[in-house]
Amino acid sequence: MSRQTIAQINLSAFRHNLRCVRTQAPSAQVLAVVKANAYGHGLMNILPALNDADGLALLELPAGIALRERKYGRRILLLEGFFSPDELKEISRHRLAVVVHSHEQIEMLQQAKLARPLEIFLKINTGMNRLGIPVDKTKQYAELLTSFPSVAALRLMTHLGRGESHEGAVDQLAKFEEACQGLPYPKSIANSAGILRYNAVGGEIVRAGLMLYGSSPLPGKPAHTLGLQSVMTLRSELIAVQEVAAGELVGYGEVYRTTRRSRIGVVACGYADGYPVTARNGTPVIVAGKRTVLVGRVSMDMMCVDLTDIPEANPGSPVTLWGEGLPIDEIAHRAGVISYQLMCAVAPRVRFVTTEVGKVDFEL
Ligand SMILES: Cc1ncc(COP(=O)(O)O)c(C=O)c1O
Repeated sequence: MSRQTIAQINLSAFRHNLRCVRTQAPSAQVLAVVKANAYGHGLMNILPALNDADGLALLELPAGIALRERKYGRRILLLEGFFSPDELKEISRHRLAVVVHSHEQIEMLQQAKLARPLEIFLKINTGMNRLGIPVDKTKQYAELLTSFPSVAALRLMTHLGRGESHEGAVDQLAKFEEACQGLPYPKSIANSAGILRYNAVGGEIVRAGLMLYGSSPLPGKPAHTLGLQSVMTLRSELIAVQEVAAGELVGYGEVYRTTRRSRIGVVACGYADGYPVTARNGTPVIVAGKRTVLVGRVSMDMMCVDLTDIPEANPGSPVTLWGEGLPIDEIAHRAGVISYQLMCAVAPRVRFVTTEVGKVDFEL
């Protein structure tokens, strides 16, 4: 049997989380954000669960085209729009919607001769100071864009950089309102944090990412308290067990020394699989259904766990590194990173297995 390091993708959980988004934003259209290969879950793995969304948002043009080739018919929004004029024909041919965030893109649209005009999401910089046109240029650019033959429809959009912080988002929301004053176009404002915190003002079109995958966008509010379920469970198994005397070092360097006679389990998962090397001693791991801890430094292909209190654990025992029963947010916190990063970093050598519900069969 091959190395059993598996990312289990639970489509029922994804569907459930999408229903949570709809409960929070009942009158909005929901775009599922699936950039970066569906936040590392595999776009084509997630595809069967995407029927419940009103459309998708991503930024990779080839992925948008691949979705059309798979007969995905609803709206697909390119979140960074286009990068050069030659992309516009492809975008038009595949009926993709685009974010327009810069003067340069507006000029490219002005020159474009397209068989089918585009749906445009004009992105306004309301204080994140990343992408977007200035608030005071909104009216002028809206008028200009709607006069172009290459533009079929206009939406107004912003992105909240501090959706979890009351003060920050209120400020951005006020600026967005100022920008949109008197303009009759539909609005798209909220990401996951915005959907949960400001559901009344998220706009007619919300863009849900993180919460669809079952991670909490709100610090201090664990995902389960928001009704969210883990979509990705990273699983592996023990490949060796060592009996170690008290006072011995485990793994590379001098990161962990046993304080008692210990059983140390070796898990077939390391940083080359996407597990964070910054995770410290004490990071939780589930072995044979029981919670224990990581000991020592994570190595490229393996990591060690304390099995002293799980005598029934042996080579072949199942290990959960995050997901079902062990929130990814907890691991991210321990590793000093964000859960987005953990999801996106699962390595290609990890086998992805899609399930509707329940546990994966390790023999698959
Ligand atoms: C423009 C835009 N909208 C929506 C999202 C989704 O955000 P989240 O994953 O926090 O829901 C992102 C993600 O970074 C984004 O860049």
